[in-house]
Amino acid sequence: MSTKDPALKKTRKVLLMGKSGAGKSSMRNIVFSNYVAKDVRRLGATIDVEHASIRFMGNLLLNLWDCGGQDMFVESYLTSQRGHVFGSVAVLIYVFDVESREFVADVVSYGEVLRALGEESPGAKVFVLLHKMDLVQSRLRLPLFKERSEFIRQSSLKFSTSVEFFATSIWDQSLYKAWTQMIYFLIPNAATIELLLKQLANAIDARELILYERTTCLMVTHVTRGGEDKNPFPDRFERISSILKTHKQSIARHTHMPPSLANFKEMQIKTGRFMFFITRLTENTNLAVCIPPSEQIFNAARYFSPFVSSVLCS
Ligand code: GTP
Ligand code: MG
Repeated sequence: MSTKDPALKKTRKVLLMGKSGAGKSSMRNIVFSNYVAKDVRRLGATIDVEHASIRFMGNLLLNLWDCGGQDMFVESYLTSQRGHVFGSVAVLIYVFDVESREFVADVVSYGEVLRALGEESPGAKVFVLLHKMDLVQSRLRLPLFKERSEFIRQSSLKFSTSVEFFATSIWDQSLYKAWTQMIYFLIPNAATIELLLKQLANAIDARELILYERTTCLMVTHVTRGGEDKNPFPDRFERISSILKTHKQSIARHTHMPPSLANFKEMQIKTGRFMFFITRLTENTNLAVCIPPSEQIFNAARYFSPFVSSVLCS
């Protein structure tokens, strides 16, 4: 592979692993293929590895390896396919079914996977998802999450200080929150994007700017200014992701378009307390803008957005 080719430099291999039935393919299809949570019941178990190439933000190509978790497949990943599966990995996303009755055995299997990863791709990043949290009583979720994460961390070998944990469920926005952070880790020019958004936010006196990827509706990054830091809805970014996704589903239903093609040009909300609009910024991104209630600022924001777009695309 030539390291001089800029397109190839931004290709990232992502392994999605975990025991059979943990929920890997469900989340992949919800995040990347416009499934809604109730659709995933009809998915069958994954046979060997399913590959998906996902172009994200135009210049980042995710090579997602959804690895079937049945024992015979895992055995072959760890033996005959070891170098092929665990070589050149940028990120491993390991999914645990939080309701599994064989938690200790699941962690042993995780340890074997991490040993192989440590040998073949020592620089990889590991994210662990404690999934199906909706099945746990809400008061028990946090203590269970803490206890399990600590236990899993101890089996994470050389990744034990860098591994990151998320509690997720396909039935709420926690899935978006986790995937947003995992993808952000992979975006090559994240710092530049953030800087540009900060400049735009200052120029138009925005309260908040949120950048969303268009196909997945995942948040790429956000800039929050002034008193907006104290916004009482810390999960508003994921909530908007969820709303955008549902809106796209509904457009698809009413226009008979495939959900992957359904999209909208702009959405505006104007109230006496704030103004908000979401507009297409680049081929792959939507920008959500929250500003004070002023037509002047509103017009300036819409005027400035294309400049950011031209820099982001270059
Ligand atoms: P393999 O392909 O065999 O490795 O399994 P997998 O990890 O891909 O599991 P899959 O996505 O096929 O999901 C198995 C079952 O878990 C499906 O019936 C899903 O409906 C269910 N499931 C997935 N995510 C969740 C979740 O967050 N909560 C609940 N309650 N069920 C879930
Ligand atoms: Mg699967």
